[in-house]
Amino acid sequence: MSRSDGILQGRVAVVTGGASGIGAATVRRFLAAGAKVVIGDMNVPAGQAFMADLAGSGFTEQVRFQAGDVSEEADVIELMGLAESEFGGIDIVFNNAGIGGAIGSILELDVDHWDQTFAVMARGVFLGIKHGGRAMRKTGRGGSIINTASIAALSGCGGPLAYSATKAAVVNMTMNAATELAYLNIRVNAVCPGIIFTDLMHRGHVKEAGQTVEKIQPSTLKGEPEHIAAMVQFLASDDSVFVTGTTQVVDGGYLANGLLGVHPLPGVAKRPTYSGMNYGTTGKENEIRFLEPKKDNPGD
Ligand SMILES: NC(=O)c1ccc[n+]([C@@H]2O[C@H](COP(=O)([O-])OP(=O)(O)OC[C@H]3O[C@@H](n4cnc5c(N)ncnc54)[C@H](O)[C@@H]3O)[C@@H](O)[C@H]2O)c1
Repeated sequence: MSRSDGILQGRVAVVTGGASGIGAATVRRFLAAGAKVVIGDMNVPAGQAFMADLAGSGFTEQVRFQAGDVSEEADVIELMGLAESEFGGIDIVFNNAGIGGAIGSILELDVDHWDQTFAVMARGVFLGIKHGGRAMRKTGRGGSIINTASIAALSGCGGPLAYSATKAAVVNMTMNAATELAYLNIRVNAVCPGIIFTDLMHRGHVKEAGQTVEKIQPSTLKGEPEHIAAMVQFLASDDSVFVTGTTQVVDGGYLANGLLGVHPLPGVAKRPTYSGMNYGTTGKENEIRFLEPKKDNPGD
């Protein structure tokens, strides 16, 4: 029997971006801990494949998949509505869906890509708090909302400009929402993952990513989605009943090490040679434009 057996018994959880990576690991953990789970994700094939996988592990009755985009209010309302109609209310919301977003040269950043990045990771989290919070208010049971930020929120070189700015917004929204919703017994916390080996992070370059991480991360462990899921489960459970408005860094000591001015992640280059949009694992094609080097002004 694992330590988490039964810790979320009878709880209903909504997990966005739950078809892949950190979200999927959290879904598995929540289910193993006794929760009923609704997975929200816009990647339908990935969601269906994950549901088949879960069924293979014996989870069918306690889990549902809802296709939708967290940046669309109607989709978020539908997602929360499904959890209420299927499982009778919501106790836990994990606002976790994310993409790489606008990447490359700040000087070339496309406003539309900037807006899309904020739509998914700032507006999406706001909508999850708003409609998850409303569902919790209805039951009167209170609840726990957990938002995925990033160490990129807390430093100048942890991620691309737009991505990092959305994650900083998530950290602040977490504090404000925790303050406002405390009277409803709703706790709100954020988790800041470090470098976690998911498709979004390594984009298929697992070996190269591993070599970079070795140089800059104090812990010798490889960051796994389960490392984040363990923290999310703690924040979701009554073990953290007095924890609200906080940001929990789970990064193998990476931030403590000062990020070292190294730009380890795709999309963060000192002299960007490209500009564009990274849609992560949503199934949408990335849009990357390579920039011509300026021969007449090499210092530019
Ligand atoms: N992997 C890392 O190193 C790392 C580090 C810090 C923060 N994060 C954050 O963790 C979260 C999960 O990332 P991951 O690494 O597990 O990535 P992932 O690509 O494996 O999973 C993200 C999931 O979110 C879904 N998604 C994206 N946009 C969506 C939208 N608009 N509506 C609904 N679903 C959407 C994708 O389809 C995918 O299934 C993200 O918010 C990411 O920014 C990841």
